[in-house]
Amino acid sequence: MGDSWTDSAEKGLKRYVNGSPFRKKTPSLRSRFKFLLLFCFLLFIVSVTLSNTCLSLSDSCPLNLKKLLNQTSQFYPPTPSLGVGPRLILETTTASTTALPTDAPTTTAPPGIQYHLAYPRNYHFIMDNPEVCKNQTPFLVLMVPVEPYNIAARDAIRQTWGKEKQVQGQVVLTLFMLGSSGGANVEQQEELKRENEKHHDLIQSNFRDTYGNLTIKTMVIMDWLASRCPTAAFGMKIDSDMFLNIDNLIIMLLEPSIPKLNYLTGKLMRNRPVVRSKNSKWYVPIELYPESVYPTYVLGMGYIFSNDLPEKFVEASKSIKPFKIEDAYIGMCLKKLGLEPTSPPNPSQFMSYNYIFNRCAFSKVITYILESPQQLINFWTDLKRPEPPC
Ligand SMILES: *[C@@H]1O[C@H](CO)[C@@H](O)[C@H](O)[C@H]1NC(C)=O
Repeated sequence: MGDSWTDSAEKGLKRYVNGSPFRKKTPSLRSRFKFLLLFCFLLFIVSVTLSNTCLSLSDSCPLNLKKLLNQTSQFYPPTPSLGVGPRLILETTTASTTALPTDAPTTTAPPGIQYHLAYPRNYHFIMDNPEVCKNQTPFLVLMVPVEPYNIAARDAIRQTWGKEKQVQGQVVLTLFMLGSSGGANVEQQEELKRENEKHHDLIQSNFRDTYGNLTIKTMVIMDWLASRCPTAAFGMKIDSDMFLNIDNLIIMLLEPSIPKLNYLTGKLMRNRPVVRSKNSKWYVPIELYPESVYPTYVLGMGYIFSNDLPEKFVEASKSIKPFKIEDAYIGMCLKKLGLEPTSPPNPSQFMSYNYIFNRCAFSKVITYILESPQQLINFWTDLKRPEPPC
């Protein structure tokens, strides 16, 4: 994106260099005019670089300018003190950038004001397994967002795709991401601790675990991968109600055509309208997301990304207003980074519903949405029988 702009700018410069107006001893009126034009052009470049135009028009933002804008993140205030809970961004931020029809606050807002609910470093881990990526370098880390109470889903995953530690010769790690169920639930918290002592696979952060906070949960997953497991090659966010054919996924990721950087894939959602009816589960207020369609994103049930992206998402989340549709939010982060999701080599492997399933079908897919933890155990056991599935 934005190539045409860069191209024409470069061409303009080349034209100038090749047809240098200084060669003639007495510059004609025409070459003086050319010089003036060039001067204006350079002035324009400088002013664009210094302004925030790119943030509001991130689609048409030349790459080098994006890099420059990324550097502005250093002007952010340090992560706020952890006990203080997050606040929504102060409206004054937009006042300083009124000239821009921006859908997100800009990164050049005065320090101290920018402050974001979905920025994961507003939160901190209250249960962690930071050593799991120190003893080994996983090829793929499966991160499963799950409610604290949902031990049935965790146990079903631990008995099925989550128990696979070596797949096609690659190290795979499965971890569960939980929010907090509030200080009142002391007993549940004790149980979670015991569960983690047994399995060493729970990560818990101090934001409230609610449906409305799923975007925070996803961003905390990204923070964990960026800070605790940066050496892994790929990450996957996969919901706790999913069937995952982990072998097929690793086979796909080992294909030479799969990029190692800036790669995000899954079931692609294009031109999805934003739900504005207030009683819908997917309602998003216009203040949080003013456009009527989402950028292309991948369905939240299960998406895979090269592990350079989590840190970039964390940075991007500083300047994107939080709305609770976590997968579309990741789509916004990608867009801000000037990237787009990639279609998987075989899109039919990323199944959601509406398909009659049998053993043969399960042997070919990568994802499929299930109805219960018991169903996962049943289907998995069935698939793993020794007879050929098809
Ligand atoms: C999200 O988590 C924050 C931090 O714990 C909390 O203040 C807020 O009420 C939660 N929001 C929802 C919608 O649950």
